[in-house]
Amino acid sequence: MNIHKNRNSISSVKVIIMSSSLSTSSLFLLSCILLVQMAMGVNPLFHFCSSSNNFTSNGPYETNLNKLMGDLYFKTPPTGFGLGSIGQYQTRASGLALCRGDVSSTDCKSCVVEASGEIRRRCPSNKAAIIWYDNCLLKYSDMDFFGKIDEQNKFHMYNLRNVSNPEYFNTEVKKLLSELSEKAYVSPKLYATGDSKLGESKKLYGLVQCTRDLSSVDCKKCVDGAISELPICCDGKEGGRVVVGSCNVGYEIYPFVNA
Ligand SMILES: *[C@@H]1O[C@H](CO)[C@@H](O)[C@H](O)[C@H]1NC(C)=O
Ligand SMILES: *[C@@H]1O[C@H](CO)[C@@H](O)[C@H](O)[C@H]1NC(C)=O
Repeated sequence: MNIHKNRNSISSVKVIIMSSSLSTSSLFLLSCILLVQMAMGVNPLFHFCSSSNNFTSNGPYETNLNKLMGDLYFKTPPTGFGLGSIGQYQTRASGLALCRGDVSSTDCKSCVVEASGEIRRRCPSNKAAIIWYDNCLLKYSDMDFFGKIDEQNKFHMYNLRNVSNPEYFNTEVKKLLSELSEKAYVSPKLYATGDSKLGESKKLYGLVQCTRDLSSVDCKKCVDGAISELPICCDGKEGGRVVVGSCNVGYEIYPFVNA
């Protein structure tokens, strides 16, 4: 089944900002709740621009950042993950891109190209930023962030529809995603999908994935942290996602990834 068709069958999805800021010094919680009509196609799910550092237009940081983006288009599609750093000291730009584990290299490439253009439009002079799409995420910073769990950049989404038996449903969601967490962290792509039975006739589908700069132990830590947030966003909801800078978890009652 095609993912876009499935997504379109949902009338609307709520996005809640839980936290923001790429700055390493402070984690600030936004108190606002955004209602976003989830659009079809290639619109970004979300982005954050860092509040701390700006670069000078046409300066060395921007030159390095442009070169880094070019490297990421090239490096990411073959395996679905790419990372790199260009430059030295204050002008050094580090970045990574990750495509969802089931996305073809062609779709991966278009997502990374789209993401790198769009994030620069949205965060024109920020040294650090992150953008998420259905098919990929792209992140860059003047800080060396590789191998560290990013819990600062985070958002939640949920399907507006409620299930009829939330206690049973929540338990099944946690069970499935915990099983996928066990699988993902020992897999080379730090990615796992699967499904489980929901009563007689329904099924639950789940996905977990980490950015591959994380160690497998940190991947598990990140995913388990995301799963533990499901009660905050997605209690009794037919679908939900907790998306963190270095991992994400999601579930739906329809197949939302390509097998
Ligand atoms: C960076 O630029 C943004 C937008 O132009 C501005 O609001 C912000 O204060 C700047 N930050 C710093 C640290 O100069
Ligand atoms: C789901 O439940 C919440 C909380 O009880 C309620 O506010 C909301 O209107 C329900 N949504 C739908 C689509 O029925």
